[in-house]
Amino acid sequence: MVKILFVCLGNICRSPTAEGVFRHQANKLGIEDGFTKNMFVDSAGTAGFHMAAPPDKRAQLTALKYGVDIGNLKARKLSLQDFADFDYLLAMDSDNLAMMKRNCPPDHQHKLHLFMSFSDNSPGITEVPDPYYGDIEDFDKSYEFIDRASEGFLKFIRREHNL
Ligand code: 4NP
Repeated sequence: MVKILFVCLGNICRSPTAEGVFRHQANKLGIEDGFTKNMFVDSAGTAGFHMAAPPDKRAQLTALKYGVDIGNLKARKLSLQDFADFDYLLAMDSDNLAMMKRNCPPDHQHKLHLFMSFSDNSPGITEVPDPYYGDIEDFDKSYEFIDRASEGFLKFIRREHNL
């Protein structure tokens, strides 16, 4: 089984969107996720500001416009155990990646990546911008970046793990 964790700061905007979009794209190809499947997908935040909260309403509405329902997700904080449990921990931006690198044991450092590094059609874009203090257009822009990176990562994971 391959285990994938999307990580942002609050786990209420970008990483739950990435979790939902990636799951949606994978499911469309017949790749299902869950404890009894070949793939397990989750998300977490490096900060614990919004523990157990559902995704921000603006993130929910943006995802729903594209048919992706993230309303049932609940925020949680990234834990030390996650570095051992997951195979890929994908950071939405370099601040979160730096925080993860500081906390991750040496033997799991190779699992940490910037999510946008998997996008094949976003030249020069390395981060999913934080939309939290922005408006709905910022959520649209983040969604677009997440959608592209998710496509690229799905291609990569299918090749790498024969899914
Ligand atoms: P996220 O966005 O990291 O994409 O979930 C944020 C959510 C909450 C806060 C910052 C960013 N906050 O400061 O509460």
